[in-house]
Amino acid sequence: MLELKTNIFAVGAIDWDRRLFDELIPLPDGTTYNAYLVKGSEKTALLDTVDPTKRDVLIDNLIAAGVDKIDYIIAHHGEQDHSGCIGDILMLHPEAKVVTNPMCKGMLIDLLRLEEGQFITIDDGGQLSLGDKTLRFVYTPWVHWPETISTYLIEDKIFFSCDFFGSHLASSSLFVTDEHLVLESAKRYYAEIMMSFRLPIRKNLEKIKDLSIDMIAPSHGPVYQNPALIIDAYKDWIRDDVKNEVVIAYISMHDSTRKMVEYFVSLLMERGIMVKQFNLTVADTGQLAMSLVDAATFVIGSPTMLARAHPKVAYAAILANALKPKTRFVSIIGSYGWGGVMVKQLTDLISNLKVEIIEPVMAKGYPKDEDFAALERLADEILNKHKDLKIA
Ligand code: FEO
Repeated sequence: MLELKTNIFAVGAIDWDRRLFDELIPLPDGTTYNAYLVKGSEKTALLDTVDPTKRDVLIDNLIAAGVDKIDYIIAHHGEQDHSGCIGDILMLHPEAKVVTNPMCKGMLIDLLRLEEGQFITIDDGGQLSLGDKTLRFVYTPWVHWPETISTYLIEDKIFFSCDFFGSHLASSSLFVTDEHLVLESAKRYYAEIMMSFRLPIRKNLEKIKDLSIDMIAPSHGPVYQNPALIIDAYKDWIRDDVKNEVVIAYISMHDSTRKMVEYFVSLLMERGIMVKQFNLTVADTGQLAMSLVDAATFVIGSPTMLARAHPKVAYAAILANALKPKTRFVSIIGSYGWGGVMVKQLTDLISNLKVEIIEPVMAKGYPKDEDFAALERLADEILNKHKDLKIA
């Protein structure tokens, strides 16, 4: 049985095979559903459960940890990858109480059909004694749901952070061993579900800055024995600053848009601008999301299809609109045969983004000299905009 510190066990499950979350988010490296057992001198608490598909793993791990009684099930978050087995644990340990905040309690009643009398609700900063170990609850909302809490185990200085600081990374190692790999996974996770909540996350970081933390134990991915590794990474991702980067997401059906994109990318490279180019027929949407964490400019490329953008490009615009990156500028390049409303459609689809739209470049048919000249004008304008921001 894997132990974080004395009498603190990892009892969750590794999901090596999962490749999609929320039927949307790619998981190239699988994931873990971390649950932790904290045995105090008087009481025992289970911190979260696991995805229902891994119910048997959790139950076997609890048996292996020698659990005969669970007093508290701490529910940090209502989403079922952590809460989904609470009902099963209550069947096995009917004496246990579910400990959470009032909002999460309401969600668990709705989602899992738990009953009012099965809960103890706690306030922000509230504490629960297990005897020689004390749990302090810290509300850390919007990491990506509004109800989420974390737990600080005072005596052992462990911060159980739920999705906050997590990474979708299946690993047999309880602790971080490959820092680069974990940070890559954590950034992907941040980009996919937390990026639109930069400001609440900033408040959460501020809230925990005075806690003395030896270890961060998230609900997905390895445990951090060096908390600064992930805290500093989050501080970087949530900064207002953007980087001298252009992300281009495009589709081409008959090579007109591809020719424009390739020419445009070479112009940006000549101007010293970092480019990340995504052909949406093959792109991993997680990589696209990650690239938007820092980029100053997002360029969307599409042919006109049935008078509008190619549906896969429209999807990328909808996704960016939902993720709300701190991107400052957007432009559109593409082609058309006889007309259409693609520029207006795409502009409308990204209405959540606080961006300046730089004049699009649309070619009638295959791009001609005047279209390449317009792309040069666009590349110059992006360069000047980036210079004005004084970005690195
Ligand atoms: Fe890992 Fe929001 O659940």
